[in-house]
Amino acid sequence: MAGIEGEAGAGQGSGVTDAAATAAGAEAHDARALVEVRGLAVAAGNLVVQSGLGFDVRRGEVLVVMGPSGCGKSTLLRHLVGLERPVAGQVLYDGHDLHRGDPAELAALRRRFGVMFQAGALWSSMSLGENVMFPMRLFARLPAAERRRRARFKLALVGLDGGFDLMPAQLSGGMRKRAALARALALDPELLFLDEPGSGLDPLNAARLDELVLNLRHHLGTAVVMVTHENASIFAVADRALYLDPLAHTMTALGPPRELLAHGPAEVRSFLQRGVVA
Ligand SMILES: Nc1ncnc2c1ncn2[C@@H]1O[C@H](COP(=O)(O)OP(=O)(O)OP(=O)(O)O)[C@@H](O)[C@H]1O
Ligand SMILES: [Mg+2]
Repeated sequence: MAGIEGEAGAGQGSGVTDAAATAAGAEAHDARALVEVRGLAVAAGNLVVQSGLGFDVRRGEVLVVMGPSGCGKSTLLRHLVGLERPVAGQVLYDGHDLHRGDPAELAALRRRFGVMFQAGALWSSMSLGENVMFPMRLFARLPAAERRRRARFKLALVGLDGGFDLMPAQLSGGMRKRAALARALALDPELLFLDEPGSGLDPLNAARLDELVLNLRHHLGTAVVMVTHENASIFAVADRALYLDPLAHTMTALGPPRELLAHGPAEVRSFLQRGVVA
């Protein structure tokens, strides 16, 4: 299919050099993709919005899921984190089927993800520190002092040093998004799922958030699956981008965004060429 790169398709840029260097010294199992999606069909309500999906999420990469509003990006994300069962196909996480198996094992697998949903608000009655510590309270057996230390560190990572005692209502929209990102990082995930993290932000703050995502990947080695339909974000962060077509109800392109802009299918090129109006 035009625009879909092969599984052995070449990556791009310095990320590949880093990945190659890491892989050279890594265990054999690290050669395996972190997430393998095979023949996946996903429904929202009774409507099958996407089917025939097959792609990998590689360790340490930023994979963008893009496409027009309503094409099924958030629906796909909910399936990738194991919140919903697919109509068909599989999502393998580190070789384990995310939808089949022992519930305790599946829960442990899912704890290795950090998730920031599209409407991912902070808990308004809790301070930022309490928001970040909440997942630790639920899932990590840590002394209170260690939880606090880790929460402060996560807040510092997103540029909110000293924000531990602030309440969400005291923050700007950009700060709230960054705090939600800190909460998604609470359990040191190896994979972050972000659904439209820049939505509702002005272009400058959206760009800062993109930069932050790239910094996290660089410093923590976190792989990122990010849903966005903003071209500026797509070109800023994506190693590869996956296009979900709303009419074909399947993916019609996967690859580095600049390659898709130059050589992708017509609908993907026109999607990536949009001006300020979507
Ligand atoms: N619970 C539901 N029941 C029925 N249809 C739904 C449900 N949730 C979503 N849909 C429909 O499924 C389709 C995909 O929705 P989804 O939210 O995944 O799209 P999206 O690509 O994330 O869009 P956006 O860019 O606006 O966030 C849309 O047509 C939507 O109206
Ligand atoms: Mg959505």
